Amino acid sequence: MEYALDRFEREIHAAISSTGQVPEPFIELATPKPNIPADLAFPVFRVAKEQGTAPPQLAQELAATVRFGSDSLIGRIASAGPFLNFSVDNGRLATVVLREVEQLGPSYGHDDIGYEQTMLVEYSSPNMARRMHVGHIRSTIIGQSLFNIMAALGYRTLSDNHIGDWGKNFGVLITAIEHEGRPEGEGETALAALEQLYAKYNALTEQDPAIDQEARDWSLRLEQGDTDARELWRWIVQMTLSYTQPLYDRLGVRFDTTHGESFFEDKMEPVLKQAIEQRVAYRDEKGAVVVELAEHPTFLLQRSDGGTLYHTRDAATIAFREQEYHPVKIIYVVDARQDLHFRQVFALMQTLGYVQNTELVHVSFGMVIDSSGQPLAARRGNMVYLQTLLNEAQSRARTVVEKTSPEFPDEEKADIAEAVGVGSVIYNDLYQDPKRNITLDWDRMLSLEGNSAPYIQYMHARCRSILRKSLGDKSHVSADTDQELRRVFPDYDPTLLSHTAEIEVVKQIAKLPKATREAGVRYAPFVVANWCYDTARALSTFYQECPVLKAETPELRTARLHLVAATAQALKNGLALLGIRAPERM
Ligand code: ARG
Repeated sequence: MEYALDRFEREIHAAISSTGQVPEPFIELATPKPNIPADLAFPVFRVAKEQGTAPPQLAQELAATVRFGSDSLIGRIASAGPFLNFSVDNGRLATVVLREVEQLGPSYGHDDIGYEQTMLVEYSSPNMARRMHVGHIRSTIIGQSLFNIMAALGYRTLSDNHIGDWGKNFGVLITAIEHEGRPEGEGETALAALEQLYAKYNALTEQDPAIDQEARDWSLRLEQGDTDARELWRWIVQMTLSYTQPLYDRLGVRFDTTHGESFFEDKMEPVLKQAIEQRVAYRDEKGAVVVELAEHPTFLLQRSDGGTLYHTRDAATIAFREQEYHPVKIIYVVDARQDLHFRQVFALMQTLGYVQNTELVHVSFGMVIDSSGQPLAARRGNMVYLQTLLNEAQSRARTVVEKTSPEFPDEEKADIAEAVGVGSVIYNDLYQDPKRNITLDWDRMLSLEGNSAPYIQYMHARCRSILRKSLGDKSHVSADTDQELRRVFPDYDPTLLSHTAEIEVVKQIAKLPKATREAGVRYAPFVVANWCYDTARALSTFYQECPVLKAETPELRTARLHLVAATAQALKNGLALLGIRAPERM
């Protein structure tokens, strides 16, 4: 899709071409330094060298000959040393950008670059019989945002939750339950009890050969379809999933498929066979299947007792996805400790020739650190589970709402607290490069002033409240404010928006489509998060410098109201890409 700034760039290319002095491959544009009063620059070094001219001289010549149409978004062209600088025409930019937002509404910023291409995003993927640890929480949040971004870019997106519902640990769990009975109750309590049972019996398998044998037997019986084993296994999986579902709901997470590891139980044989046939793997003297690939440590696809492994299931998963969906990409959002695992599996599948038209991408991420600088871990006793995390965030956000809006009805306050609390947790995970570790710093996460969800949500809510007031409605929250605004003030002149602060806001709105694309290319939701923050800040400067309801003239007031409406819409769209709600008021 061509948005305003794409058009601006295209027109610059055409203008430079029109001089007849610069062959197309030499036209590369750059963003000028902040102190340069221009929006895009053409550094002429390369073409000047080619022609044997001095760069400043060439820039001057180009400035004198360059031509552009009168309705172009280009406002001004000037040479400055070795640069040809281009400034946008502010009035025309405002006209085009506001029209785009008004026409596209919730899909402003979206694109069609992914048209007809399938992309599979795998995230969350917790292990059963335990509460999600922080690694899975990060995966869930980053993965959902990447999914939203890819969907917005027009990809046919599929989300898969590759739950850990298979493997030897189920043998251990079933043994434990056989000895001690099923834990009472449901949800958090039952899961916490299962975690303890598992820890106890896992330790026992190392001390007591009889228990170890029992666990192996159960694990084998489970694989062979024994009814008792299956029944307990199903109970464990169902119980974990129904505990997790409300948490997914709160985070706005949804999956197209939940094909856990068990789903691939009967799909491993062909890959195993093929690996041996193609001599990528061999059977050693004890019967284990070993993969040896250049540049990667060896790994097993089958144990000597015939059992399969995590690697085997992941290999079968890729084969299945490939055959079923023909995706252009499969994105794995899994923490950095599994880097090697994925390098091995990806290399195996590439060598076997499975993924010729599919790019396999591992988006890895760092840890969560507590306020004293320690990584969160169950064995350190500082683990934070998702449910506790969300509840804590919600209750802290409630305190904030009680302060900012004590007069709101109770139900609305609860809803805002949920949106702000959950939003602050999501934002904390997304506002910087996922490779970096994040900290749980509640004051920063819930700050109404810093780089946080509440700040951005608050700036959005301020816009909405100004719009409601302009319509003479002081308290009522209406979803139709936009339509109403267009009905009451249908005509306005965007070229009146000529104050620097207004232009800055317009330019910020114009940048959302590019931010979304860049976030998709780099698997980097933080690009969108940064855009949200910069936009909120531009808006805040605008509010300080430009009165809206009390603008100097009725015409300017109307134009500013439309600017405010467009900014609110764009901010809401940006937040939606991150998976964060934007309440109507706060
Ligand atoms: N269940 C795994 C774990 O908790 C994560 C799964 C990641 N995805 C995959 N395809 N291996 O460690």
